This record gives sequence, C-alpha cells and structure tokens, in this order.
Amino acid sequence: MIVTLTANPSIDHTVMLTSPLRRGEVLRARTTTSQPGGKGVNISGTAYAAGVPTRAVLPCPDLDPMIAELRATGLDVVAVGPSGRPRINTTVTEPDGTTTKLNGPGTAATPALLDALAARLVQEAEHASWVVLAGSLPPGTPAGWYAEVVSALRSTSARIAVDTSEAPLEALAAHLPAGAPDLLKPNAEELASITGSDSLDDPAAAASAARTLVDRGVAAVLATLGGNGAVLVSAEGTWHATPPPTEVVSTVGAGDSSLFGYLLADLRGLSAPERLGLAVAYGSAAAGLPGTTLPTPPQVRADLVSVRDLDPITGGL
Ligand SMILES: Nc1ncnc2c1ncn2[C@@H]1O[C@H](COP(=O)(O)OP(=O)(O)OP(=O)(O)O)[C@@H](O)[C@H]1O
Ligand SMILES: [Mg+2]
Repeated sequence: MIVTLTANPSIDHTVMLTSPLRRGEVLRARTTTSQPGGKGVNISGTAYAAGVPTRAVLPCPDLDPMIAELRATGLDVVAVGPSGRPRINTTVTEPDGTTTKLNGPGTAATPALLDALAARLVQEAEHASWVVLAGSLPPGTPAGWYAEVVSALRSTSARIAVDTSEAPLEALAAHLPAGAPDLLKPNAEELASITGSDSLDDPAAAASAARTLVDRGVAAVLATLGGNGAVLVSAEGTWHATPPPTEVVSTVGAGDSSLFGYLLADLRGLSAPERLGLAVAYGSAAAGLPGTTLPTPPQVRADLVSVRDLDPITGGL
C-alpha cells in the first residue's frame, strides 16, 4: 500500500476561450474543465492505474465535491478536517495558445488540522509500505512541518518519501539528519536550491550534489533532470538513466509519475538501477501525454531506458 499526503490540494479549472482575452469584457469559452489536482493525488492516481493499493490523504471537508469527484474515479480518499475548501487554480487559454494562470491563495491550515493530518498519517502508515509527502504546504503551516511528520512516522514500519520545493524543502534540508526521509525526489532546480549549487542539469554535477544529502542522512536521492533523465544516489551506489526517445507533449506532473515508478519497482523487489530505470520510464511516459494525464503500465517503456553506473564521489563515468 502506498499512502500519499497532498497537503495543499487544488481544484484546477481550465477555461479555453474562443477569442483573445480582453479585460473588462464578457467572453465566450469553448470549453471549461475542472479537475482535482495535487502531487499526492497524482501519485495515488498513477498507482491506482497500475493496480497498486493506494490511499490519498488530503485536508478537505468530506462532503466537498472534490472528494466525491476523486472517489468517482475509484480512488480511496481520506478527507481530514477541520479544513476549508481546496484552493482554486484557474488557467485561461486563448486560441493562439497564450496561457494566463490565476492561482487561489488556499485556506490557511490551523494547528488542529496539522495535528489531525499527522495523526491520521501515522495511523495509515501502520498498513503502508511507503508514505509519500508531496507538494507545497497550505498557508500558515510552519516550513519545518514535513520534518516533524517524518519524525512522527519513524514510529511506524513504513518508509517515507518526500517531494516538495522552496521553503518546506529548504527547512527539511536545513535540519538533516533529523527528519531525513528514505527517499527525496528533487528536480534539478530543487536540488540546486538545497545544495548551494548552480544549475544541475548535468547528471555528474547532480549526482555529486545529491551525494552530499546522502552523507547527511537521506537514504536515497532520486534527482530528476527533465530531458536528461534522472540520477539515483544511495549508500549502494550512483546511477544515471537516460530517457527513451520521447515526443514531449506536457511535462506537468512528470515528476510525480517518476516517483511512483521508483516506488513500484521497489514494491516489486527490483534492484537500485532497475528502480531508477522504471522511474525514468514512468516520468517520460507522463511527459508524452497531454496536461496532467497519468500514464498506464502499457505506456511505460522501461525497456528503452539505459542506466549506467557513475563514480560515487565525482559523479563522473
Ligand atoms: N523533455 C523530456 N524528455 C523526456 N523525458 C522527460 C522530459 N522532461 C521530463 N521527462 C521525464 O520526466 C521525469 C521528471 O521530469 P522533471 O525533472 O522535469 O520533473 P519535475 O520538475 O519534478 O516535474 P513536476 O514537479 O512538474 O511533476 C524525468 O526524469 C524524465 O524521465
Ligand atoms: Mg517535481
């Protein structure tokens, strides 16, 4: 069982206009769509599509339409309160492809909600192989909250993965080895932000930056590098995987699929290079699909990913 937390869920509205956006006027939409969004929800959705037992935990009133919509897709969802409605993020697309985003602020989290979320995760972790803490934190949450949750989850047998950015990621990195997860999944920019490096698109540079996090207590770092694939660094070794040939359609949510690919391979008992290979295959399958469409197993081409060993110190070949 993979349990995910989406701490700051959203409802993503997309409005496609029939004419250019003009301020102050009434305009017609060709289509309007609405979709529950968030990293944990995406990871659980990909797990569900692969037939892996999963449960998505999120702060939301249980009777909210977003919860009903997620349950209608078949997902096992746990809504934790007392919480306000999820934030609403609106994307306006004009006929020439120009996209304007209007992101809602999100409801502030109260200490009571944060305590209820942490307690529920500990309870759910009792029957989970992995707990994934994913995405941003709602307004009002202390940046160090993920590190606190990781420490609370240490009383359970579940392993813990974290995929976040900005202040929550920086706070997690600042307090290592306390709050160190079993798996951290930064992208190149996120890895650079916590290792004091510049751009880390280069696999060797990313691997040696990731090694500094492993030295500080993180069991494994899966650093995804967009079109350059990903590197995996752990006590066992250092590897780089190159993606299959990919016609990129939308990379939104590709990282969520990569993280799931890694967990799936782990649940299957595969080796570290095979876990990295499936992570990259899943990420690239997501990059080849429109919007946040989640990949299904037949779309994932692990056989076309090549994995090579890197030097554990320099990250070079
Ligand atoms: N241009 C691309 N070509 C092939 N594969 C890609 C491309 N961009 C992304 N991918 C695949 O997706 C994976 C994750 O990409 P990336 O590093 O951009 O994640 P991310 O920034 O965490 O994404 P997000 O947070 O939006 O989900 C990569 O490791 C790779 O497998
Ligand atoms: Mg990401």
